[in-house]
Order: sequence, then structure tokens, then C-alpha cells
Amino acid sequence: MDSTLKNVFDSFQGKKEELIPILQKVQERYGYLPEDAMLEVSRFARVPESTVYGVATFYAQFRFTPIGENRIMVCRGTACHVKGSVGILEEIERKLGIKEGETTPDGRYSLETVACIGCCSLAPCVMINKKVHANLTPQKVAKLFKKD
Ligand code: FES
Repeated sequence: MDSTLKNVFDSFQGKKEELIPILQKVQERYGYLPEDAMLEVSRFARVPESTVYGVATFYAQFRFTPIGENRIMVCRGTACHVKGSVGILEEIERKLGIKEGETTPDGRYSLETVACIGCCSLAPCVMINKKVHANLTPQKVAKLFKKD
């Protein structure tokens, strides 16, 4: 067990009821839930590995791959949905060759969806790192990656 995980466990008692907070803390430290860490969590919280995996996969907040160098968040809120965010998401998935929740093999991009990024009047929107790209169309998606 590495020191990062030991530090996480130091703030818990190792009880089943702590499973979600433990997983949240592990993800906070690593940026995702590494498989080895989930096994250690299973031992520490004294719950079966299948339970740890089941809980982690149930909640959308948990990731199983590292976050990419560039974090793409496609808004799937109501305003963006009405203005065609599904098409934006599909075009980004096609362009990067990954699906929502995944990271490109080179680690450059990770793709997520979010409920609302607070720019509804400019829908549909995508946030890349901290920059908002508004009024997007599938055709404009290519421009987001033009420098690549
Ligand atoms: S619904 Fe997309 S920014 Fe609010």
C-alpha cells in the first residue's frame, strides 16, 4: 500500500458505513479510483470487492481512469439538450475516439458530461479546462481541436 492510500485511511476507522467517503477521498487524491486502491479499500472497510465495485460504479461521481491533461465537459442540462448537446457530445466522441467518462490513450483529453455549467443562454456549451465554448454545433466541434 502506498503512502497516499495510508494517509487516506488514517482519517477513517475502517467501517463499512465509511465506504463512500473513503472512495471520495481516494478519488480526490488520485483523480480517479485505481483498481489496486479499490482492493485496498475493500480490505480496509471490510466489505467484499464486489460491493466496493458496485458502489463505485453506481455513482456517477466516480471515475475509473485518470483525468486527461485537458478536461472536456459537455453540458447536458435542459437548455443545452434542447439546443442539440447530444450531437455535440457524439461529435466529440467521434473526433477523440472515446466515450463519455473515458480518457484518450495518450492522456491528452478526458470527456465528461455535466448537468449545467451556468451559461444556459449561450447553449449548447462545452467547457474545456476552464474555458467555455458557446453556441456550438457539431460542425464547430472540429475548431475546438484545430491546433491538434
Ligand atoms: S443547461 Fe447548459 S449551460 Fe445550463
